[in-house]
Amino acid sequence: MITGKTSVFGIIGDPVEHTLSPGMHNAAFDKLNLDNIYVPFHVRAEELEDSIKGAQAMGIKGLNVTIPHKTNVINYLDYLDIAAGLIGAVNTIEFGENGAVGHNTDGIGAIRAIEELISVKNKKIMILGAGGAARAISFQLFLSGAKSLTISNRTIEKAEELRDDLVEKLDNNVKVTDLGFGLEKELKDTDILINTTPLGMYPNISQKPLITADMMHKNLIVNDIVYNPLKTGLIVEAEKAGAKTIYGVKMLMYQGIESFKIWTGIEPPVEVFQRALMTEMNLEII
Ligand code: ATR
Repeated sequence: MITGKTSVFGIIGDPVEHTLSPGMHNAAFDKLNLDNIYVPFHVRAEELEDSIKGAQAMGIKGLNVTIPHKTNVINYLDYLDIAAGLIGAVNTIEFGENGAVGHNTDGIGAIRAIEELISVKNKKIMILGAGGAARAISFQLFLSGAKSLTISNRTIEKAEELRDDLVEKLDNNVKVTDLGFGLEKELKDTDILINTTPLGMYPNISQKPLITADMMHKNLIVNDIVYNPLKTGLIVEAEKAGAKTIYGVKMLMYQGIESFKIWTGIEPPVEVFQRALMTEMNLEII
């Protein structure tokens, strides 16, 4: 029941109507008997500054931030945590006595998903794509102890830009390739492959993945961050190659869990988040 004491959390984005976050957070608030509620807010770019000031003025306790505000929102915050500062993007705001603090749980969410299977420490990793998601995951990979990273992207300049930033701020063990023939050779020496491109995402589910089974080895771990469909073309190829796979919903779930921890100080039961997410997506529990 919502009362005068209920704490309000939410998500700002444009569009926001398809967000799966309210289902996850409200299920966990219920399960843990927390007097909190999580709601979506449709905020356009020109309303971003007002929305942050307004949220603070109204005593909202925390916000997730999604497309297209993750970078621009930084202009209206008081502090950033280390990951958000390095990545230059925020997906979680904590409002408190210190003002508005920005965090980024996208990268740590992806790493937690992978670490259900294997630690990223000292691993050789290849990432497909060089956009916002690749950036968040790349920085966190090095913060979490990865050994080396190859960034493979259609537009080589974008991959080089990300590499230069990683080298300047964190680690110089970064290579860049395009999506051509070099990929196959590079993959032989890769422990973990992460796809951050939208290839194979609904409704284009039959798009050919960049990497096929014949290019993979059976000790490879393949993580596609595309979560709709649950089993993407890339995951199907990985299964054919006998490789271990990690579905994109896991990153979505763990970035939510990490936000929840920031706001409440509580590690919520993973199953509650997972069940809520599967229900929202009309999928069977995996
Ligand atoms: P996000 O914020 O989800 O990471 P993004 O910033 O738009 O999304 O990044 C999408 C990434 O997928 C980019 O690296 C993009 O490659 P370019 O830098 O060449 O644009 C990559 N991508 C998108 N569509 C692609 C396609 N059809 N084939 C290969 N790469 C693609």
